[in-house]
Amino acid sequence: MSLNGLIMIATDTERELEFQAKIDRGEVIEPKDWMPERYRKQLIRMMSQHAHSEVVGMLPEGNWITRAPSLARKAILLAKVQDEGGHGLYIYSAAETLGIDRGEMIDQLHTGKAKYSSIFNYPTLNWADIGAIGWLVDGAAIVNQTALAKCSYGPYSRAMIRICKEENFHHKQGYQMLAYMMRGTKEQQEMAQDSMNRFWWPALMMFGPSDTDSPNSAELMRWKVKLYSNDDLRQRFIDRTVPQAEAIGLVIPDPKLKFNETTRHYEHGEIDWQEFKNVVSGNGPCNRERLRARVKADADGKWVRDAAEAYAKKHMN
Ligand code: 3HC
Repeated sequence: MSLNGLIMIATDTERELEFQAKIDRGEVIEPKDWMPERYRKQLIRMMSQHAHSEVVGMLPEGNWITRAPSLARKAILLAKVQDEGGHGLYIYSAAETLGIDRGEMIDQLHTGKAKYSSIFNYPTLNWADIGAIGWLVDGAAIVNQTALAKCSYGPYSRAMIRICKEENFHHKQGYQMLAYMMRGTKEQQEMAQDSMNRFWWPALMMFGPSDTDSPNSAELMRWKVKLYSNDDLRQRFIDRTVPQAEAIGLVIPDPKLKFNETTRHYEHGEIDWQEFKNVVSGNGPCNRERLRARVKADADGKWVRDAAEAYAKKHMN
């Protein structure tokens, strides 16, 4: 290898050591800072998939806007779905600071190259599902995103601060909806329990595979992108959600759930990782329908983008 080649490797190694020292000191990495290519790639992967999750997440809830049981509930659901779209745009913009083009991220979603959260591949079969999504899905997202609000990449952590505030409204309105149903008729109580039964385990899968099966966690934790492991965040979500379920009379669909007085945590049954793998690999109940809807929405909205670009070219130069 030439002397120049050796010097370049030494410089890169030196920079990587300095980068890790910055991370270890708790310093925030900004877009203009030097960063290892792998750090940039990992963040693009995670942030773009997060943004995809927000946008695809609008579909299961949007399905019930026209069927909300009251004008008030329709307005709340409209606001929530609009918020999710905004979260997606926010995180796409944060991802673009890493040098990836928005169109490229959208293509990765539409061609199946990029993932989005498995939870959104389950159908919303009744109105209680809208409550379960707010309470469980946004509740899980809050646990995950509160940690991300302290992550090492500046634009991502700052995006999370605003998003978490809105997630808290999403979480509360969903829980209030189920609490209301659990004080209602027998049919309403059964509907709420049915929704709990269908969404509990997929909500636990939102935190990713177990730590032993998580190929990205070690690196992401070394770089303080992830501050806690998948299992730690999952446990935190379980510990805070079980008392909420009990408070309104919902039964957690896990016969092995038991509070351990010594560890002060809930022990739980085994997650069906085969189901997780099936849904993540595209064979969930709604994967095809969700992607079809996103591709159609993108095509239907092309004229708006073209018009905006034509206007910008004419008036903004
Ligand atoms: N759904 C789909 N894919 C998943 C997944 C899930 N629930 N959990 C893990 N995966 C994928 C990962 O993307 C990774 O695949 P890849 O390397 O091809 O991208 C693989 O499974 C292995 O998982 P890892 O644990 O190694 O991956 P990560 O370290 O990236 O951890 C994660 C996964 C916990 C989802 C992490 O990426 C993360 O925290 N992402 C940011 C938050 C996010 O995306 N949340 C999704 C929900 S957003 C939401 O709910 C919005 C709310 O407003 C409703």
